[in-house]
Amino acid sequence: MKAARLSAIAGMAIAGLVLAGCSSGSGGSGGTDASLTSHGPITYVQGKDNSNVVRPLIDKWNAAHPKEKVTFKEQSDQADQQHDDLVQNFQAKNKNYDVVDVDVVWTAEFAAKGWLQPLEGALAIKTTDLLPATVASATYGGKLYAAPQTSDGGILYYRSDLIKTPPTTWDELMSDCAVAKTAGIDCYAGQYAKYEGLTVNVAEAINTAGGTIVAKDGKTPTLNTPEAKKGLQRLVDAYKNGDIPSAAITYQEEQGRQAFEAGKLLFLRNWPYVYSLAKTDGSSTVKDTFGIAPLPGNGNGPGASSLGGHNAAISVYSQHKATAHDFIEFLESSETQKFFATQGSLAPVIESVYTDPTLVEKLPYLPVLLKSIKSAVPRPVSPFYPAVTTAVQDNAYAAIKGDVTVDKALTDMQAAISAASAGN
Ligand code: GLC
Repeated sequence: MKAARLSAIAGMAIAGLVLAGCSSGSGGSGGTDASLTSHGPITYVQGKDNSNVVRPLIDKWNAAHPKEKVTFKEQSDQADQQHDDLVQNFQAKNKNYDVVDVDVVWTAEFAAKGWLQPLEGALAIKTTDLLPATVASATYGGKLYAAPQTSDGGILYYRSDLIKTPPTTWDELMSDCAVAKTAGIDCYAGQYAKYEGLTVNVAEAINTAGGTIVAKDGKTPTLNTPEAKKGLQRLVDAYKNGDIPSAAITYQEEQGRQAFEAGKLLFLRNWPYVYSLAKTDGSSTVKDTFGIAPLPGNGNGPGASSLGGHNAAISVYSQHKATAHDFIEFLESSETQKFFATQGSLAPVIESVYTDPTLVEKLPYLPVLLKSIKSAVPRPVSPFYPAVTTAVQDNAYAAIKGDVTVDKALTDMQAAISAASAGN
């Protein structure tokens, strides 16, 4: 090989290194990064596709984009494992985790670490039709880091063959447990295993009782109030007296759904994805015998749901960000949102989809869900969220199991959140 050619190749290799250096971990969208305008095959990473919506969507995309094929990397169905897998792959600068599904509570942490590509300049997306809470959940430090993909709000599933009017307060729910006893089934369950879902359920109990986990600044803990105590105490008492069955201490979303579909529960707190599966699963015994209602409240309106949901973000290590951008726009499009709703009863991020008459006829839960999402309470937004949620989970879990008193659990939770927020 001629020396001139060799040195040209060496020059290109150095330029390549410099370009790669620009994109690694900086989170910036400086104009010199070739990956920003590059099209090509990408991988989409998401937790288990319980609702069977991802593969058909990707097939549709791939048929229309043969040179920009998307491969699906499916993670487990557990929120904490999904989180840890993303962290490991970001730390390893994995170029093949191009578009990642980010739970609303991970945005701050991942953005602060510089792992998510800001959606600005050529990578900007349109957000005007979206529910404001979903846009806020994808924003950190004033910048948008992900495309809202699905929202989530807690709902109360109930056995409509056994309960004619669903309870509107926690106390009514507890008195309805007599119906479960007579029917020989368990009364109520949410998610109480020690993972993110427990934080969701504890936050809902505390918020519904009129308390809060942190103050408006998003970091100062506020668990030393009678309202916070009342909220956690409700879960502790219900678990102790069996209204929440003992098995529920191991429940994540899927175990509760399976118990409800098997006819073993009178009430279930879960997300909207359960609706479609409980109606269509071959093994569901409650296909025509369940209804949905807002979460029970405190006597002054519906209960407070935690705001859930997932957003699609572009990894800063992706080599084909232009394709990644087009793919996240495709996930957020009105057509895909309607598909998510009709196929998987997932909560759309586009507000007008909730009032589309054809959809409301097919999916009667849409108005209840929109209400739940509009009044939903976000979990603390913090780059140190993992420490905050661990503080909630460890202490609430110990209290529900009866290992510590509610007072001790709240005092320890308060101290651990203060410590987590100290450098924040
Ligand atoms: C759902 C919600 C998510 C929440 C998780 C907890 O996936 O959308 O926000 O963190 O459940 O298990």
